[in-house]
Amino acid sequence: MDKKRRPLLAANWKMYKTLSEMEKYLSSFLGLVAGIDDRDIMLAPNYTCLNRMVELLNGSNVKVAAQNMFYQDEGAFTGEISPKMLLDMGINTVIVGHSERRHIFHEDDELINQKIRSAISHEMKPIFCIGETLEEREAGKTSRVLEYQIRLGLKGLQNKDVPKIVVAYEPVWAIGTGKTASLEQIQEAHRLVRDMVGELAGEDIAEKLRILYGGSVKPANVKDIMSLDDVDGALVGGASLEPESFAKIVRFEEN
Ligand code: PGA
Repeated sequence: MDKKRRPLLAANWKMYKTLSEMEKYLSSFLGLVAGIDDRDIMLAPNYTCLNRMVELLNGSNVKVAAQNMFYQDEGAFTGEISPKMLLDMGINTVIVGHSERRHIFHEDDELINQKIRSAISHEMKPIFCIGETLEEREAGKTSRVLEYQIRLGLKGLQNKDVPKIVVAYEPVWAIGTGKTASLEQIQEAHRLVRDMVGELAGEDIAEKLRILYGGSVKPANVKDIMSLDDVDGALVGGASLEPESFAKIVRFEEN
């Protein structure tokens, strides 16, 4: 494997799996990925699975991430979970700004920026999701939308903090639809994001930034997607729910 940046293969389980389903998954998944140490492997389960998962993965090569968090440490925010609470469980990575958070729960770029800043100030790693809708792509607005999301998302950050972020480019029209973006579309968007980050924070920093692709990644397409220059990993929903399927994605070059 000759990737410039250490690959990250992350599973976003969304609102799937009970505790017992999670334990059953791990009992098979850990064996399937045992000994792999040249890439980061990460699972983001729902909140009720987080604590137990941290215990079960202790000492393994698989890390745990949260799917979301609020930006305050504590307070009257019914239904929310804070960076302090995640850190208390031993979790220091969090997905921020997923398109389902943006579209179903109406999170805007300003709130997402507050979450990113909060994560950085707590020395947590945000996986910052961006991506255009089908309507925006068809109207030729993809680059404008990505630029806007990147600019607002990274607002107020110091340059040195930018490589602590992982960006996930997930075209909304490719999420959960079975429609993957073409290899050209993926490489073009990733290059665009890297160039924009280069303009904002400098080329050296942009070269260190990991950019994941997400949207209907599966064992059958992951190898080609991972072969693209500016793709450093994948954020996987549906195809991460079965251990065999996600293990094949983790071992992308063997497909
Ligand atoms: P999908 O989801 O792999 O099911 O398209 C990706 C995501 O939402 O992160």
